[in-house]
Amino acid sequence: MAGEIYKKPVLFAIVSAVVILVGTFATMFIPMMTSGMHPKLENLKPYTPLQLAGKDIYQREGCNNCHTQTVRPLRTEVMRYGEYSKAGEFAYDYPFLWGSKRTGPDLARIGKKYPDAWHVRHMEDPRKFYPRSNMPSYGWLKESAVDPDEIRNHMDALGFPYSEDDITALKGKTDLDAIVAYLQVIGTAVTKQAVAGGESVIVEAVQNPLAGDPNALVAGKDIYEENCLDCHGEDGSGDIGPSLIDTVMVKAEGDLSDAHYYVIIEKGLDEGMIIEGRAAEGGMPAFGEDLNKDEIWSVIVYIRSMQKK
Ligand code: HEC
Ligand code: HEC
Repeated sequence: MAGEIYKKPVLFAIVSAVVILVGTFATMFIPMMTSGMHPKLENLKPYTPLQLAGKDIYQREGCNNCHTQTVRPLRTEVMRYGEYSKAGEFAYDYPFLWGSKRTGPDLARIGKKYPDAWHVRHMEDPRKFYPRSNMPSYGWLKESAVDPDEIRNHMDALGFPYSEDDITALKGKTDLDAIVAYLQVIGTAVTKQAVAGGESVIVEAVQNPLAGDPNALVAGKDIYEENCLDCHGEDGSGDIGPSLIDTVMVKAEGDLSDAHYYVIIEKGLDEGMIIEGRAAEGGMPAFGEDLNKDEIWSVIVYIRSMQKK
């Protein structure tokens, strides 16, 4: 009996079409109509005009051909890039820019990872930071200006809220300003949640086991030059990041202990993080994955030598 249907091509076509339609309805249309299936994250906001302008440039320049914007829920990915991507993060992305190829690293958690000035210099010349980078230089983006009318139309089309002041503020902004503004917001709906409530970072009172070790000083200098110099300057007096040789540490007067330095270098500083009662502004990347314990203690020995301590 069951075999009979194969001998009736018209009936077979109709039955198979019905089966496929039922499947399509159940797996596509029902989820599309059910709002619970596409959640928005609490911290997620529609793009501002400048951020949207940056997103358009990201798309135009095909950054997504080399960069993904989605961290898979796999241990290795989470260790490298941070919290895995949530469905609700992309509610305002038309279209989403997940990409599928990683010539460069994933950018899903790039927002607030570095200060703005870092992005400007990296976009101008990636090889200044990574001599073997094959990312093109995008310094020429600062020669073209954002067109306020075009962005207004795009905001209207997407139904994103904006004020007249936001549009006036676009005057004089370059494409480079816009792409930095966009990069700085990517993924922050999730990372902000992680540090929400200004949780204090707990620092155990430990001594630097390598203090006074001349080998650590030599090793620390190399580690500093490779990882820290671009942001904190040749002699530690600051550049993109703050000075490490003055008496202001994490925005407040007064030095911190080696143990505090250790935690800052290991975990980085994110906006809203509280360390020893001081609120961080963010922009200091975490080095816990790149540097081992001895390397972190060594670079602290080197910082102390720059401070003449
Ligand atoms: C040909 C491939 C390629 C293209 C196109 C490309 N990148 Fe990259 N990108 C890379 C590589 C490789 C790296 C890693 C080395 C480096 O930082 O320069 C990188 C690194 C980055 C980083 C630093 C990531 C981190 O976590 O340190 C950012 C931000 C970035 N790219 C943004 C962009 C933007 C924005 C565009 C488009 C305007 C773009 N990239 C286009 C290959 C590319
Ligand atoms: C991408 C730029 C960048 C790099 C690279 C970087 N830092 Fe930082 N660092 C910052 C910024 C920005 C802050 C300030 C963050 C804040 O106050 O919230 C900071 C703060 C610090 C602080 C706290 C001192 C202070 O005055 O606030 C220490 C210590 C520190 N960095 C050490 C290091 C070391 C060691 C390295 C290399 C292993 C390093 N940093 C690499 C940007 C960077």
